[in-house]
Order: sequence, then C-alpha cells, then structure tokens
Amino acid sequence: MTKVLTSRFDLKGKACDIDVYLKTGGYQALEKAFKELTPEKILEEVKKSALRGRGGAGFPTGMKWGFVPKESKRPKYLINNADESEPGTGKDRDLMRYDPHQMIEGMIIAAYTLGANVSYIYIRGEYWYIKEILEKAIAQAYQRGYLGKKILGSGFDHDMYVHPGAGAYICGEETALLESLEGKRGHPRLKPPFPAVVGLYGGPTIVNNVETLAAVPWIILNGGDAYRALGTEKSGGTKLYTVSGHVNRPGNYEVPLGYPLMNLINEECGGIPGGRKLKAVIPGGSSVPIINAAEAGKCNMDYESVAAVGSMLGSGGVIVMDESTDIFETTRNITHFYMHESCGWCTPCREGTRWLYKVFDRMKRYEGRPGDIELLYDLADKILFKSFCPLGDAAAMPVQSAIDKFRDDFDRRIKYDLVQIHKAAD
Ligand SMILES: Cc1cc2nc3c(=O)[nH]c(=O)nc-3n(C[C@H](O)[C@H](O)[C@H](O)COP(=O)(O)O)c2cc1C
Ligand code: SF4
Repeated sequence: MTKVLTSRFDLKGKACDIDVYLKTGGYQALEKAFKELTPEKILEEVKKSALRGRGGAGFPTGMKWGFVPKESKRPKYLINNADESEPGTGKDRDLMRYDPHQMIEGMIIAAYTLGANVSYIYIRGEYWYIKEILEKAIAQAYQRGYLGKKILGSGFDHDMYVHPGAGAYICGEETALLESLEGKRGHPRLKPPFPAVVGLYGGPTIVNNVETLAAVPWIILNGGDAYRALGTEKSGGTKLYTVSGHVNRPGNYEVPLGYPLMNLINEECGGIPGGRKLKAVIPGGSSVPIINAAEAGKCNMDYESVAAVGSMLGSGGVIVMDESTDIFETTRNITHFYMHESCGWCTPCREGTRWLYKVFDRMKRYEGRPGDIELLYDLADKILFKSFCPLGDAAAMPVQSAIDKFRDDFDRRIKYDLVQIHKAAD
C-alpha cells in the first residue's frame, strides 16, 4: 500500500532533522512548486486530487482554497489546525512528531498558492513537546531558505509561527480558533462570512487540518490524478486512522480511502483480543454516530460509504468495542465530555448537554425512570441542528444512535419497579 503520509514514520523521529528529511526526498515538492508551477497550476492539481479536509468535515480542499479572493486589501493567512482534541483521535500528533517538515512543506506550498505571507500552527496545548519539535524544524527551514524573504529566489516571502491553545476542545472549531488566535475567548463566529473571505483579523484565511496539509507535497510531486487514483473517485488518496479500544494492535494506520473497516480491524490491528465478538464501532471520533457489527461488516472507509451506514468518517478516530462493552456507559462518558466542553454560548447546547448528563447520571445509578430513554432522545433532538455550532450536533448524534442500536444497554438502567410503586400508591 502506498504511504503518502507515513513513509518516514519508520525513522522514529529522525526526519525531524532537515538533513534526513532532504535525503529522503524532502522539499523537492516545494522546489517543483516554485520553479515549475504557478499558484493556479498548484490549485488545479489539488482540485484534481479530490483531497478532502481531514479535520472532520471532509470539505474539498481545492474548492476551499479557490474561495480565497485573489486581490485583498487585508493580508491573507493560512492556519494549520493542530488542536486535535477529539476523543479517539491522535493522528496529527504522529504526523508532527515523526515528520514535521512534511507538514511545513505542505504549508509553504499552500501559502504560496493562496498568496498568504503569514501562517500559524495552532497546536493543542498538551502537545507542548511537539511545539518544541515544530519550532526547531521551522528554524531549520528558515536557515535553508525555505522560509523567510524571497523563498528559493522567488518574490514570495513567508513567516510561520506556532501558537499553543489552552485546552479547550471548542478552539478546534475554525472560527473559535480564529477568536482564540486573536487573543479573545474561544467562541465560534456566525458563518457566513466564511473564514476564506473574512477570517483572521478580517483577512481572507484558510484553516486546514495537519493531515490535509501533510498530503500536499506528495500531490505536487506525483500529480493530482495519481493521488486521486489511490482512493475512490470522490474521496482521493489515503487516510490516517487512529484505532483504539478492543484491538490487539491499537495505533495509527494509513490506508487508502475506501479500505474495508473490517480489514483495518482484523489485518492492520490484529483483530479483537480473546476471540471476543465485535459489538460496535465509532468510525470517526466521538462526534459521529455509532454503528453496530453488521453495519461495520459492510462499511468501507471513505466519506460516502461511511455515510451510507449512517455515520461519518469525521476525524478518523476509530473506536472499536467488543461484546463486553456497555454502550450506555460509553455514551454517558462521551456526553460528559461534551457537557464539559460546551462553550456555553448558545442555549440548546449549554443547557441541553447538562440535562442529558443529569438523566445519564441517574441511569448510571440504575435509578432511571420510565420514560427516561425517550427523554434522552428528545433532549438530543432539541440540541441537534438547533445549536450555534457543530459541537451541539456532536453531543446529540452519539446519544440518538446509541439508543437506536443498543436499546437493551439503556433499558437495563431503568428502575421499572417504580411503575409498580406508583401504581400501588394510586
Ligand atoms: C467542536 C469542533 C472541534 C474541532 N476540532 C478540530 C481539530 O482539533 N482539528 C481540526 O483540524 N479540525 C477541527 N474541527 C474542524 C474545523 O472546524 C475545520 O473544519 C477544519 O480545521 C478545516 O480543515 P480541513 O478542511 O483540512 O479539514 C473541529 C470542529 C468542531 C465543530
Ligand atoms: S453549540 Fe455548544 S460549543 Fe457551539 S456555540 Fe453553542 S454552546 Fe458553544
């Protein structure tokens, strides 16, 4: 299988040194982009590649870059979203700590295409040690003339900065990230206008995920068509998944888009321990609907096929659960996360996640009341598509899908003898 993103992972971090990176083909795509291609031609290749954003929403990258106006009175910006806080997802961490220059090279090519002279890497605060790796790599790139004034003798200048977040999941949402980067509290902004038109400090801004940008050098070196051919027609290339939970070899695995989910679990990850049966999978990080074993059996890992079984590819965090798992507990845990991370800006999410958790909490003590499962469902319904930003949807979808598919695990938590008690009291 072709490795686009992880070809240097076997070097165990040695590629952080620019000399090792250069010896293994590094910065050749940048040389090609500056010496043989125009920004228009690069954009065309990225569009052809069918690369879709790897941060969760799967928006076509070339189309997004195309929204940035050519002429702008305000400076344009590129932002690399390295906030990576979705439970179950840890792929960007390895892309940055094992091969930081690949991502930096992708950023410089993207910035050149967009005409952005400044970029920021907004990195999750807990990745402090990776921030240091990135800063060293950026300093090396300046020394070799890949960053700074007149890059590779061209007329293009570019400066790159690393900015750590402070532990809020909402700051991974692109507009809350912009607020945070401007030094304000991380609340999402109303869209439209979209950041590509009005973003950081009011200037046109592209926010892309680490993995999206790390794929760019390969696309430039090998061509958009070659990248697309690795995956499916609508979902080009390869994808890095973080597989966790009940598998023998959890970890990050790069496979082509369209790869069968069960092959990922059984072949790459060595199957489920102890010969136990699969019960459920969360295929794209904690925000997406859960699927059962039958759905997992017919699920290929590309945007369209995962949608066909009622879920989403999301951020690529694959959480595998065997038959010993209590899906009620899994969902309660996820709900606690969203309640804690709700930024409090809008009522459906701020109040709804707390009410959800309140009901979950009494059910945890096996003190659920008759009607509580319907109440959970209804509360989730009041949050879903009625919140200001997608964090609300992310809180609601796991609850509804878990009830739909694993009702028995919820039923056990209801104290049905209360019915008898009430009847007796009547
Ligand atoms: C609550 C929330 C958290 C998010 N966290 C991240 C994140 O940590 N990293 C990321 O790349 N995208 C995250 N996103 C998605 C971003 O808003 C945005 O779509 C993405 O960075 C765009 O990059 P892409 O087009 O390359 O995927 C998050 C979205 C939401 C709603
Ligand atoms: S949905 Fe939640 S996280 Fe998003 S703005 Fe509303 S309160 Fe904040």
